[in-house]
Amino acid sequence: MNDIADVIRPKIDTTGIVERPRRLRTSPAMRSLVRESRINPDGFIQPLFVVPGTRLREPIPSMPGIERLSVDETVRECRELARLGVRAVLLFGIPESKDAAASSNYDPNGIVQRAAREIKNALPEMIVAADLCNCEYTDHGHCGIVDQSGYVDNDRTLEILVMTALTYARAGVDIIAPSDMMDGRVGAIRRALDADGYVRTTIMSYAAKYASAFYGPFREAADSAPAFGDRRTYQMDPGNAREALREVRLDVDEGADIVMVKPALAYMDVIRRVREAVDRPVATYNVSGEYAMVKAAGERGWIDEAQVVDEMLLGFARAGADIVITYFAKDYLRRHGG
Ligand code: PBG
Repeated sequence: MNDIADVIRPKIDTTGIVERPRRLRTSPAMRSLVRESRINPDGFIQPLFVVPGTRLREPIPSMPGIERLSVDETVRECRELARLGVRAVLLFGIPESKDAAASSNYDPNGIVQRAAREIKNALPEMIVAADLCNCEYTDHGHCGIVDQSGYVDNDRTLEILVMTALTYARAGVDIIAPSDMMDGRVGAIRRALDADGYVRTTIMSYAAKYASAFYGPFREAADSAPAFGDRRTYQMDPGNAREALREVRLDVDEGADIVMVKPALAYMDVIRRVREAVDRPVATYNVSGEYAMVKAAGERGWIDEAQVVDEMLLGFARAGADIVITYFAKDYLRRHGG
C-alpha cells in the first residue's frame, strides 16, 4: 500500500460487524448445506401435444424443442421421459375436427382418450394427466359453448366438460385438469366421477388461471386461439390476487385435490399466498410464453439458458409450488442426469 492510500484509507471499526452471512457462502458444499429450497424433479409434469396420425413429430416454431406428436410417438416420448425420471405428463389434444359444440372432445375414441389408453397400457406407472377444456375442440376457439351474443355460457359448458371428464376417466387418465375457468366445474366433475365409480380419479384444477398474453405460443401449438374476442370474461384479471384465493377456496370446497396457479413467473406472489392459504398440493404452470422467452434469449446467447432455467425452477419451489408443469422437465432431467 503506498503513502497516498494510507492517508486516505478510512478508519472502519470491524468489531461492529457482528453478523457475517457470507460465512455460509464460502464453498459449494457450504451453500448446499444451508440451502432452504430445492428443485424437486419428482414434482415435474411434462406437457405433451397429441395430434392425429402415425409417426408424426411436428416442430412448433415458437417453442423450440417441443413437437406435436401422434399417439404412437407420444408413447415413445413417454418411454424416453420415464427413462429420464419424468413421472407425469399432461396431455393436450389437437382433434381431427372442430365444431361449435366441441363434440370431438367427448368422443370415447378421441385423441386424448386414445393417447391416455396407450400410455397407460405401455407404462402403467406413468401418471397421465389430461387438460380438460374446449378451446382446442370448438371451431371458434373459445373454452366453452358460445351463445348468440358471443358470451360463453357457463352452465351449458359444464355439460360438455362433465361428459368429457367421464371419457377421460374411462380411458385411464389419472388426473383430470379442468382449465376452462367455468364456475362450478370442479363440483360437477367430482360428482359425475364419483357417481360413475371413479372415486380415485384425481382433479387438479386450474384454480387461479389468469387471462394472460403468455399463452401465445401454446395457442399456435394447440391451434386454439379464439376467433373473436378474448378470454377475459372467464379467465382471471391479472390485477387480482385476493380473487385468486377465492377461486382456490371454491375449487377446494368443490373437491379439487390439487390447485394450480397459472402462469408462474409473473404470479409468484399468488403462488406464495395460495401455498399459505390451503393444505392441498399447489401446482404452477410454467407456460409456453415463459418457455419461448427463455429459449429465444438463450438461442441468441443473451442469457445462459441452463442457468436461467434452474434459477426459475428453484424460484417456483421457493414461492411454494409443490408441482411444476413445465416444458423444461425433459431438458432439466437430461442435464442433471435424472
Ligand atoms: C386451455 C389451456 C391453455 C393453456 C393451458 N390450457 C390456453 C388458454 O387458456 O388459452 C396454456 C398453456 C401454455 O401457455 O403453455 N384453455
